[in-house]
Amino acid sequence: MKNILVTGGAGFIGANFIHFELQKYPELHIVNLDALTYAGSLRNLDALPNSNNYQFVHGDIRNTALVRQLLINHQIDTIVHFAAETHVDRSINNAQPFIDTNIQGTFSLLEAAREHFTGSESGTDFRFHHISTDEVFGSLKPDEPPFSEFSPYAPNSPYAASKAASDHLVRAFHHTYALPVTISNCSNNYGPFQFPEKLIPLVISNALAGNELPVYGDGKQVRDWLYVEDHCQAIDLILRKGHPGETYNIGGHNQPANIEIVVMICQLLDELIPVQGGYERLIKYVNDRPGHDRRYAMNIDKIRGELGWTPRESLASGLKKTVGWYLHNQDWMKSIQNRSDYQNWMENNYSSRKGKQ
Ligand code: NAD
Ligand code: TYD
Repeated sequence: MKNILVTGGAGFIGANFIHFELQKYPELHIVNLDALTYAGSLRNLDALPNSNNYQFVHGDIRNTALVRQLLINHQIDTIVHFAAETHVDRSINNAQPFIDTNIQGTFSLLEAAREHFTGSESGTDFRFHHISTDEVFGSLKPDEPPFSEFSPYAPNSPYAASKAASDHLVRAFHHTYALPVTISNCSNNYGPFQFPEKLIPLVISNALAGNELPVYGDGKQVRDWLYVEDHCQAIDLILRKGHPGETYNIGGHNQPANIEIVVMICQLLDELIPVQGGYERLIKYVNDRPGHDRRYAMNIDKIRGELGWTPRESLASGLKKTVGWYLHNQDWMKSIQNRSDYQNWMENNYSSRKGKQ
């Protein structure tokens, strides 16, 4: 692995991955192709060492001619595909961009990769790694075992359905054209650079602004939370040691209810910047998300057994780092909060939910 094309590297996980790889392997060459949608920002990559081994390209993954050119010009041997529309609530509001980027965009990228792989000398050294989600498996009942790599696909939201479709396309390109692919399905990530419309950064930013902390429904929905650096470590291992055609489940091995996460963040903030009455008084139960999945949990035996990966951060240590990062980077957060598109989204998503108490 010498020359990597990262798609969506200006977003949350992609940016963390680029930082992780270039710190660990300074000899790598990374090209970051990102359309800079509302979720992407070049500020997420400001701290990269100013060197010749990183290049940003502003463009869309659906621009097959551009992707073809990048693959040839940079002698790309590895594609790590993060680019996607990622917010479930936005997919409920308007699914079209999810179909366009997650399905059409992945197909377009696969076509360019197939052409490049077939015409190049890199042979089996080539790799297309697709980043996916546990949400493709649907929702677990309280007593059901965690999702494994053999769990049937049962996506419930337009976001999950579009990711499931992209997983199927990636799998088919391996089966039909022998494209050397790997897929990882990961649980909910949190950590630095996450856009503050997702639960954890939203709660931190609202709490700091003294705004309500919206909890959907009864707040007892369960997610499997993973610190983003642990996800980057897992992707790196799959790229280096994973087997073409395989999928790997990745998860944090902790499954608190949403309300527990919100309370933990309030308690961390109470310690760090106490306010009168504490932060928990800001918690507000609001109308639920339509079709809200009740529970996700991941069985990570395969990646642990085959590749020796295991998460390093506990929920307590990861949340402490995350809250600390957002406190030290309030200008980053404010630059998003001050944007009219962000304010419009907040108004659009939360005014219709109304408070339940
Ligand atoms: P994000 O929303 O923070 O960033 C997505 C990035 O993709 C942005 O920089 C955006 O500009 C870019 N992008 C969107 N459409 C594009 C297009 N057509 N062409 C080029 N670039 C485009 O997303 P994230 O949370 O970092 O998620 C990254 C990947 O990981 C996604 O595929 C997502 O499905 C998957 N994933 C996310 C989580 C999570 O908890 N965040 C969990 C499991 C899997
Ligand atoms: P989110 O961060 O949107 O990730 P996903 O839906 O992909 O799991 O939401 C995580 C959980 O938090 C999910 O169960 C929905 C819930 N949630 C709230 O309770 N309030 C909120 O304001 C948001 C954004 C999410």
